[in-house]
Amino acid sequence: MGEFMKNDQLILGIETSCDETAVAIIKNGREITANVVASQIESHKRFGGVVPEIASRHHVEQITIVIEEALKQANLTFTEIDAVAVTEGPGLVGALLIGVNAAKALAFAHNKPLVPVHHIAGHIYANRLVTELKFPLLALVVSGGHTELVYMKEHGHFEVIGETRDDAAGEAYDKVARTLNLPYPGGPHIDRLAHEGRPTIDLPRAWLEEGSYDFSFSGLKSAVINTVHNAEQRGETIAPENLAASFQESVIDVLVTKTVRAVAEYGVNQILLAGGVAANKGLRAALEKAFLDKADVELVIPPLSLCTDNAAMIAAAGSVMFEKGIRADLSLNAIPGLDIETYNT
Ligand code: KG4
Ligand code: ZN
Repeated sequence: MGEFMKNDQLILGIETSCDETAVAIIKNGREITANVVASQIESHKRFGGVVPEIASRHHVEQITIVIEEALKQANLTFTEIDAVAVTEGPGLVGALLIGVNAAKALAFAHNKPLVPVHHIAGHIYANRLVTELKFPLLALVVSGGHTELVYMKEHGHFEVIGETRDDAAGEAYDKVARTLNLPYPGGPHIDRLAHEGRPTIDLPRAWLEEGSYDFSFSGLKSAVINTVHNAEQRGETIAPENLAASFQESVIDVLVTKTVRAVAEYGVNQILLAGGVAANKGLRAALEKAFLDKADVELVIPPLSLCTDNAAMIAAAGSVMFEKGIRADLSLNAIPGLDIETYNT
């Protein structure tokens, strides 16, 4: 094991909360040693979304193969692993259970500590694979199931200062894409179309009460759907690229404006972008522009492969939780609605 030192910390992470079966091994909390993702997107595409039973079946089929592949990639045996970290929630219960049970079996068989990880904590910690975190910081989390602003005063401590009251940003992207007959997952397709069009259609922005960091995207989603239906009834067609551009502009406008305001109010050193929608080109560019002249706050954006679901982020968060002494025993269960503030101490 030439490249590993005896005192290196090696965490094996497992992620099965939705439609990716993923296993990764992270060295000293920050270095990717192995990162394997088996995506099921092709199987769910024809249904226009993730079918929970199909997701569980795929996870069962893939999990052992993916674990072995990760150990092979890292050129490690299980003896050298310090702990097994696994997504405990939130997510689809049947999907989560496959990862949780695999992790429990591994921890039991090899007598290793078991570390429970919150999926969104994982998305946030994807940023630590890019650069060291500097506290206090704010994370803008935008995924298929979550849209929230999370304040962190230190490692492993999460405070939600604002969250969506209805649809998550990714969910709105996927539903709008469906209305435009684009395949699942729709986010990347809308993103691509938006760059081909112009924001010519006036769509609402939900700012909510003065000072609120909460979000709401269901009104915007309905406005897009109504625009399409009204045009159809009048026998008109709307250029889909202009609708995509208008929708994307509205989403980004709200996300960036609220983030800039929160950064100023909370006086943070870093702003992290996290979750599947962090792959959005328009959002990445808008944040870069907004923070260009703010030299006292560092903007961190993970590479595309670390934005969507993966286990490198789970192992990275797991490394911190492991050091904090967070442990699960063999009674660990999947918690579909797990709260990110659960492990704050
Ligand atoms: O974080 P993630 O992989 O899964 C969850 O934890 O939910 O996020 C998936 C979401 C989907 O809604 C997908 O459409 C969206 O991320 N997404 C994007 C882009 N790439 C993925 N949304 C907008 N623009 C993109 N380029
Ligand atoms: Zn995710």
